[in-house]
Amino acid sequence: MQSIYEAIDWNEVWRSQMQRNKDSSPGRDCSRIWESRESALRFWNMSQENRNRVDKTIWSTDVTPESRVLDIGAGPGTLAIPFAQKAAHVTAVEPADGMVSVLKEKMDEYSVKNIDVVQKRWEEVSVKEDLQPPYDVVIASFSLGMPDIRSAIEKMMMASSKYIYLYHFAGPTSWDLQWKDLWQKLHGKEYQPGPKSDVLYNVLYQMGIYPNVKTFRLQHSQRYGSLEDALKALRPQAQIETAEQAAVLQEYLQHTLKEENGSLVLPASSIRVKMWWEKDQLS
Ligand SMILES: C[S@@+](CC[C@H](N)C(=O)[O-])C[C@H]1O[C@@H](n2cnc3c(N)ncnc32)[C@H](O)[C@@H]1O
Repeated sequence: MQSIYEAIDWNEVWRSQMQRNKDSSPGRDCSRIWESRESALRFWNMSQENRNRVDKTIWSTDVTPESRVLDIGAGPGTLAIPFAQKAAHVTAVEPADGMVSVLKEKMDEYSVKNIDVVQKRWEEVSVKEDLQPPYDVVIASFSLGMPDIRSAIEKMMMASSKYIYLYHFAGPTSWDLQWKDLWQKLHGKEYQPGPKSDVLYNVLYQMGIYPNVKTFRLQHSQRYGSLEDALKALRPQAQIETAEQAAVLQEYLQHTLKEENGSLVLPASSIRVKMWWEKDQLS
């Protein structure tokens, strides 16, 4: 007889939690919130302020000057640019217009020429037609917006000749808590968070993959010039359409923003998890 544990299809748990999250807050899809250049640039600036996270990610990835790196959900190039400065080649997969345009600007600014950009969702990427495998390192960092995570990981395994690194969240993130507070007031329904690293670990386990796991806390406060800037930045994510909704968001920000050296800071911190494995070693 099958045990309860064996009967759980963890890929289905992932898919249904993603769907629940999408249904509760349709505009907050992991790639749709980065369509605008402004939000992409804000993400780049925040990453530069929390530079420690980027540096640690780069030095704790097994990259040599000969390495070929596949960066899935590369965003504005937070990792792709420093990887390109250390490795032979980077392919950056990124679907969001805003992110891709900032990534290209940053490639110019840093005179980085060894990045190929594939503007697609990972689900739409053909390893044969869109990429040049094999890649020594395949990395997806806080970019697992894929409903069928098992197929997404199988495709990563196909593209990799050696390492796969995934970064994801553990426990409620700062935005889960923020939207949990606000969603009912803004939209009259409960906010449902997306799947976390417990589900991811179980999906990998059911695939016969037993990854290394490292857990850490990340401070990722966001800085704004004024209350108006903060409102403008959060409006799309909060899906503000009416004056009443704008007033709810404004009141929340007035309570939460902290003044620091002449700017306003939205304090945020969350627990992050790195899972990584060598393709033929543990699977
Ligand atoms: C929070 S950013 C992270 C950027 C970068 N990886 C980093 O660690 O700084 C997440 C990125 O993943 C991308 N993304 C979300 N779902 C994706 C998918 N299904 N396929 C490819 N990229 C995706 C988003 O468009 C966004 O640019």
